[in-house]
Amino acid sequence: MADDKSLGAYNIFDLRDMALSRVPKGLFEFVDRGTEDEISLRNNRAVFDRIKFKPRTLIDVSGRSQEITLFGQKQKMPICIAPTGTAGLMWHEGEIALARAAKEAGIPFTLATGSMTSMERVAEEAGGRLWFQLYMWPDKAMSHKLVERARAAGYEALVVTVDGAVSPNREYNLRNGFTIPFTFTRTNITDVLMHPRWLFGVLARYMFTTGMPRYENYPSEIKYKVTAKPMGRSQMKNDSLNWEDLKVLRRLWPGTLIVKGLAHPQDAIFAADCGADAVVVSNHGGRNLDGSMAPLEALPEVVDAVGKRIPVIVDSGFRRGSDVVKALALGASAVLVGRATLYGVAAGGHPGATRAIQIFREEIDRVMALLGARSVAELGPELLHFADNSFRRPAQSRAELKLLDTSRAAAEG
Ligand SMILES: Cc1cc2nc3c(=O)[nH]c(=O)nc-3n(C[C@H](O)[C@H](O)[C@H](O)COP(=O)(O)O)c2cc1C
Repeated sequence: MADDKSLGAYNIFDLRDMALSRVPKGLFEFVDRGTEDEISLRNNRAVFDRIKFKPRTLIDVSGRSQEITLFGQKQKMPICIAPTGTAGLMWHEGEIALARAAKEAGIPFTLATGSMTSMERVAEEAGGRLWFQLYMWPDKAMSHKLVERARAAGYEALVVTVDGAVSPNREYNLRNGFTIPFTFTRTNITDVLMHPRWLFGVLARYMFTTGMPRYENYPSEIKYKVTAKPMGRSQMKNDSLNWEDLKVLRRLWPGTLIVKGLAHPQDAIFAADCGADAVVVSNHGGRNLDGSMAPLEALPEVVDAVGKRIPVIVDSGFRRGSDVVKALALGASAVLVGRATLYGVAAGGHPGATRAIQIFREEIDRVMALLGARSVAELGPELLHFADNSFRRPAQSRAELKLLDTSRAAAEG
């Protein structure tokens, strides 16, 4: 099986099962679960079932391509890797493994503020198209220094996450006693001992090299002082963040600026007015506000509001190529995947991350062929069937948006 590149995983759910058996339960639940009653978590998946395909046939799709152009650059697939703070706990230096897999696949990788590997090391050791995700801290000057570092390290885009005004209520973390740095309790020691591959392959490797995993992007004044708080309850969140802060970031950051974590069309308009180059419609994978609508439900309205001005990216719940194709047909410019590639890296490091991306590539390709679509530009709402009337349809077709996008680029260029 050593040269079996499938790793025995035929879809993302297989990779999830492999991750479940490898990593301690406390860590797995931190990655896998949502908040409170997990209404958003479930709905993020259920919403895909409410949209069906209306395929076209007898079209020569032999030369099909899933390539897109995002921020003026061609990329081979319409997905990008979302920021996930714990990638480095799924695998030793999991961020580097993910970034390398992304580079090989020709897609961007987003490094989270709260990663276990520093942004400079990821840039040096992986390279590729790198985006840096920023959580603004109460100390704005400290955040701005982080932005400066991302610029110096050559990151292409700054992804400002705006859906975490306060810490989310993740009750299972409290029950599991899962903290960074680890505080040893009887429950989590047993949990870790029952997962020796993770204990020796991840935790011990850190301990024998760089020590207990830390937030490596944090400035040294606080990096060593991060006190043990249940994961996700970091005191670093900033509940006074507002549009003025975004305008300041726009002035500081010359590269691509992406605002991640909105659902309301008015917020998308504000973001574009502040100079954002794209928005990500997201409910953080059902991990923050429980009961928030699925990003797929919010997407058409946001596309109608700003789709002619800036790309609209979407995430939360994407596990199948067909999910990605549905979002593209609803007007998304690209899709971010979070857990799907995290499961991959937890299941098998770099080859596992590569496998997750490959699964998406093959599934997207197959769905496009069976739909009769030769390119992403040909995906539109006319290829979808809305099983119930509550789903809002986009007012503009993809072709109309694209036309305007091109004329905008031409006007600017
Ligand atoms: C374990 C985990 C950690 C995450 N950490 C961050 C983070 O540090 N910053 C951020 O903007 N989003 C973070 N997210 C949210 C993702 O960027 C993304 O919005 C979400 O995972 C998309 O849903 P999906 O996992 O169903 O694909 C995290 C998600 C997970 C699962």
